[in-house]
Amino acid sequence: MARAGGFLVVSAVSAVVIMVLANHAQGLGVNWGTMASHPLHPSIVVKLLKDNGIKKVKLFDADDWTVSSLAGSGIEVMVAIPNDQLNKFANSYNHAKDWVKENVTKHLRDNGGVDIRYVGVGNEPFLASYNGSFIKPTFPALKNVQKALNEAGVGDKIKATIPLNADVYESSSNTPSDGNFRNDIRDLMLQIVRFLNDNKSPFTVNIYPFLSLYENANFPQEFAFFDGSKTINDKNNTRYDNVFDANHDTLVWSLKKAGVPDLKILVGEVGWPTDGNKNANVGLAKKFYDGLLKKLAKNKGTPLRPGHMETYLFSLFDEDIKSVAPGHFERHWGIFRYDGLPKFSMDFTGQGQDKMLVAAKGVQYLEKKWCVLDSDVKNMSAVGPEVNYACSLSDCTSLGPGTSCGELGDRETASYAFNMYFQMNDQSVEACGFSGMGKIVTQNASRGNCLFPIQIESGAERLGLGSAVMVAAGALLSLLVLM
Ligand SMILES: *[C@@H]1O[C@H](CO)[C@@H](O)[C@H](O)[C@H]1NC(C)=O
Ligand SMILES: *[C@@H]1O[C@H](CO)[C@@H](O)[C@H](O)[C@H]1NC(C)=O
Ligand SMILES: *[C@@H]1O[C@H](CO)[C@@H](O)[C@H](O)[C@H]1NC(C)=O
Ligand SMILES: *[C@@H]1O[C@H](CO)[C@@H](O)[C@H](O)[C@H]1NC(C)=O
Ligand SMILES: *[C@@H]1O[C@H](CO)[C@@H](O)[C@H](O)[C@H]1NC(C)=O
Repeated sequence: MARAGGFLVVSAVSAVVIMVLANHAQGLGVNWGTMASHPLHPSIVVKLLKDNGIKKVKLFDADDWTVSSLAGSGIEVMVAIPNDQLNKFANSYNHAKDWVKENVTKHLRDNGGVDIRYVGVGNEPFLASYNGSFIKPTFPALKNVQKALNEAGVGDKIKATIPLNADVYESSSNTPSDGNFRNDIRDLMLQIVRFLNDNKSPFTVNIYPFLSLYENANFPQEFAFFDGSKTINDKNNTRYDNVFDANHDTLVWSLKKAGVPDLKILVGEVGWPTDGNKNANVGLAKKFYDGLLKKLAKNKGTPLRPGHMETYLFSLFDEDIKSVAPGHFERHWGIFRYDGLPKFSMDFTGQGQDKMLVAAKGVQYLEKKWCVLDSDVKNMSAVGPEVNYACSLSDCTSLGPGTSCGELGDRETASYAFNMYFQMNDQSVEACGFSGMGKIVTQNASRGNCLFPIQIESGAERLGLGSAVMVAAGALLSLLVLM
């Protein structure tokens, strides 16, 4: 009896564990962008994804090296076509066919294959700030890509979709039930969602509570998170206690009105940045993710779409050469730092446990050297132009009001800028000149919460090494054949 009892307890425990694993295994994805001066080597990234149980990844292009690195990993992949390529796909079905052959079907065979599930056609191509530049080519490109997938015999499993910003729909009253697609693109959106529906492809939407707060000083802060007291009431006694759900269900209403009420929705991007703005910090990011991950693990869904939600967190790493047009926070969306270290505790199982994600393994750092403003420099008015120069060619988005290095004095700010430029240029001695005002030091120049980083060896540079090793292996192979 005692034994049997023990066994029952054990199996109940493992059933719970299995269910928890299955839940997050089913859903959690991340965006993997590579707009970094020193990107991590793809093999290190794939190991990181596996170590953290991440099962899905969304890319922004179809870079052969990156996609190949996912072969045999069991990770589901969305490859993508950048906006500036859309015209080619719209104008030529043959181009779409060639692209699918080289960037999709080829990978399905290599090394046990890459598990490609989606092709993202463009990236937020209807963003109002693009002034309509991509309105014409996007839908024809979508059709050509899906047709090419179908003709290659993979259209049942691999779907073309358009990752869209939530600004493609709106609600005049701010309640979801008044939602509809944006006036200037409504007819186009109707055609697109019907096409997606006919092809059993998902609607991919990027939802950013952070931007609600950033763009509107009067936005109630607690509504951006998942545990706040602020609620809004919609028709039919539907209540919303967070803007993520309200935003998502504004889309659900828009789809209902378009006659495709059951179109699958995939959340292509959601996250919170940690620097570059007063609301972008580790504390608020952790609060946001704690709420989001709990909600996702419980398969709570939204009032209009309860249940599982396919979701891709934004983003995997900080990327120091992204455009800062949206704001300085744009380079700080990573759940990991530039070097693959986790920034704060995060529990993908949604149980709110205080544990760190597994860090990237095998990352090679440059030497422990920093470039700072020489303490002999007394004339600060000569320093300004050097700081501007350093910042214009590196990344100073952690400087400024409310940021991690915003409290530095003038001399330390100059040192910060000098160091960023120095690290960006792989610590070359010439990159610490600054008209004789720069000085290389070996004592950690970081100040309080302001990190003066040491760059890593770029994974992209190691490609050169990688191919040399491949050549050597190839030569060895031919020797063996000769013997
Ligand atoms: C495949 O994708 C890569 C990276 O996005 C691109 O450079 C290349 O031109 C594509 N191949 C074809 C045949 O279009
Ligand atoms: C869109 O138009 C605005 C105002 O006319 C302009 O400042 C901006 O550069 C344009 N953006 C693009 C991507 O063309
Ligand atoms: C209102 O709620 C009822 C009961 O839950 C449901 O059957 C009905 O479809 C809802 N109406 C709308 C417009 O959502
Ligand atoms: C300080 O630097 C400025 C700008 O380079 C220069 O015009 C000025 O003469 C310098 N002042 C002194 C005291 O050297
Ligand atoms: C420098 O100091 C900062 C803050 O104390 C620390 O986080 C960082 O790891 C140090 N860097 C190195 C290379 O030791």
